Amino acid sequence: MLIAPSLLSCDFSKMGAEIERMDRAGADWMHLDVMDAHFVPNLTFGAPVIRWLRPFSKKPFDVHLMISEPLRYIDDFADAGADIITFHIESDSDAAQTIAKIKSRGCKAGLVLKPKTPACAVFPYLENLDLVLVMTVEPGFGGQSFMADMMPKVRELKAEIQRRGLNVLIEADGGIGDATIAQAAEAGVDVSVAGTAVFKAENPAEVIRRLQAY
Ligand code: DX5
Ligand code: ZN
Repeated sequence: MLIAPSLLSCDFSKMGAEIERMDRAGADWMHLDVMDAHFVPNLTFGAPVIRWLRPFSKKPFDVHLMISEPLRYIDDFADAGADIITFHIESDSDAAQTIAKIKSRGCKAGLVLKPKTPACAVFPYLENLDLVLVMTVEPGFGGQSFMADMMPKVRELKAEIQRRGLNVLIEADGGIGDATIAQAAEAGVDVSVAGTAVFKAENPAEVIRRLQAY
């Protein structure tokens, strides 16, 4: 299992040092939650912050856009150093156009599904995607409880990806830690976001290593 710590749970007064700390702790990706206080009821940071964080790690920056108009801002996030850009299929941007725009900038493209959105919503786009992010909490906040009823959606997605012989990764996001990683792995998740589980830990490296073992 690849582990992507979510910086939403970090100490925002020293984000650069927190990125370095997660890098040293063995994180595979850095998960950066962008929220616009419109698509979700919370506001975090935009491309300028990501640009300033870029030099602190060479690990892939996995940028999760919880914003209403992702297509409008792809250039900003690509210029800031995003390696992976995921956006919500429930947003106001045309999914096909936004995927094409992300890939035209040399970034990996992912579609995100809110809990209530079925797996089949991304099926028309699967051939052009590098990953699908399945939310296992309602987007907007860290520290929420894992929604185990999202695992059938992961299985359905995994089955469709395998049926078509595609190598699209499945990322899960929300409430993942020691108590929930096994069911995520068992359902077919390839990459797990972990915010609270890692940042509240005495020893983040130990938690990351345990989670990576699944
Ligand atoms: C929620 C974010 C998640 C969140 C995960 O909207 O997309 O990435 O930060 O945090 P935990 O692991 O604490 O649920
Ligand atoms: Zn996220």
